[in-house]
Amino acid sequence: MQEIPLEDSIGLIYPRLTVLVTTKDEEGKVNAAPYSWIAPVSFKPPMLYLGIQRRETQTIKNMRITKEFVVNIVTRDWAAKAIACEAKLPDKVEKSGIQFRESKKVRAPTVSEAKIVLECRLQGILETGKADHFLVIGQIVHAEKDPNIKDDEIVMHHTGPNFVSPSARFEVERKK
Ligand SMILES: Cc1cc2nc3c(=O)[nH]c(=O)nc-3n(C[C@H](O)[C@H](O)[C@H](O)COP(=O)(O)O)c2cc1C
Repeated sequence: MQEIPLEDSIGLIYPRLTVLVTTKDEEGKVNAAPYSWIAPVSFKPPMLYLGIQRRETQTIKNMRITKEFVVNIVTRDWAAKAIACEAKLPDKVEKSGIQFRESKKVRAPTVSEAKIVLECRLQGILETGKADHFLVIGQIVHAEKDPNIKDDEIVMHHTGPNFVSPSARFEVERKK
């Protein structure tokens, strides 16, 4: 085994699901930004966690105001558009070419191309000690999935500009 410097240790938690989080500001302007620090936190009610840099990003500003967001799971067909939304430009969303449609339960829009969609209501934006990311907790209030989605369409973030997709599904017996 090779020892990894602690500053690189978080990078060992890979691959991570890549999502595009959509929000609206108070005037109704749509924002979208890619995230890969995402995990479930509760089955009942269904809740998820996002790790978002501890600064007032547009996503955080919008969440604080509207208390809603949509997690759009990124697939390979629109990955480049989703990643383009990382840019710090006021017109990044328009430039990305992403199309949106109305969500079912929240005002934040859904990405038209998305094959898995989780509409969320904000439960809290938590600060933990010196952690440099907020723990953003959302309750899933509506979920949708394209029944034809294939595992290998799903985009996982590896490191930097590198992404992978699940290549094999296999079973491991679980004794309960
Ligand atoms: C694949 C990918 C994954 C990312 N994951 C995260 C993440 O989990 N947390 C985070 O704070 N930023 C993450 N970022 C960076 C944000 O997208 C970036 O800070 C963005 O500019 C925020 O946009 P906003 O100001 O519109 O919210 C990621 C970027 C990419 C390309």
